[in-house]
Amino acid sequence: MQVRTYVFDAYGTLFDVHSAVRKHSDSLGPDGPRLSEIWRTKQLEYSWIRTLMGSYADFWRLTEEALDYALSATPGVDPSCRDKLLEAYWTLDCYPEVPEALARLREKDARIAILSNGSPDMLSAAVDSAGLGGFFDAVLSVEAVKTFKTVPQVYRMVTDTFDVAPAEVSFQSSNRWDIAGAHKFGFHTVWINRAGLPNEYQNYGPSREIRDLTNL
Ligand code: LAC
Repeated sequence: MQVRTYVFDAYGTLFDVHSAVRKHSDSLGPDGPRLSEIWRTKQLEYSWIRTLMGSYADFWRLTEEALDYALSATPGVDPSCRDKLLEAYWTLDCYPEVPEALARLREKDARIAILSNGSPDMLSAAVDSAGLGGFFDAVLSVEAVKTFKTVPQVYRMVTDTFDVAPAEVSFQSSNRWDIAGAHKFGFHTVWINRAGLPNEYQNYGPSREIRDLTNL
C-alpha cells in the first residue's frame, strides 16, 4: 500500500519540550535540566495512569501537575519560576530541521498531520509560534476522544479523518512507547531516536529508525 499520509507526534518529535527550561536556564541554576527531565517524565506517567484509571483530564492540567511535582523534587530550583516555565510551554521551539522536512513532504503532495496528547489550544499555540501553521492538513488532539495514547481509539482518529487504512499512514514519533502503540494499530512507524536510546518494545516496530527528521 502506498503511504501518502504522514502523521507526527508533537512533544519531543516536532517541539523540544526541554526548550522551556532552557529559555530560563540562567535563573533556574544547575538543577534546571533535572527539573526538565522530571517534568516530562511525570507528565507522561500521569497520562498513562489516568488512562488506566479511566480518569481523563486535559493535558495542560497534567503539565501543570507534573511541573509542581518536579519543583518539589528539585529544591535547588526557585519555585517562583513556575509561572514563567508554564508560559514558555506555549511557545516551545521546534527542532531546527522540522520546517524543511515538512516542506519536502509538501512538495511530494503528502498529507500531513499532528496526532498528540496535547490539548487543542496548546497545539495551536505551539504550531503558530514555531511558524508551522501552513504545513498541516489536520492537528488532531486526544481531546476529541478523551483518552491518551496508546489507546487504539487515539490512532483511529487518523484513519477516520483521512479515510485511509492504517498501512497507508507513516507515523513519526521520538517516543518509543508511542511507536509501539502506533505499530500495534497498524501504522508504518518511524522512530525519531533523537536521544540515541536503546531499542525496546520488541516486536512493536519501528519500521524505520532515524536520528532526526532530516532524512525522513
Ligand atoms: C504527544 C506527547 C506524547 O505529543 O509527546 O502526544
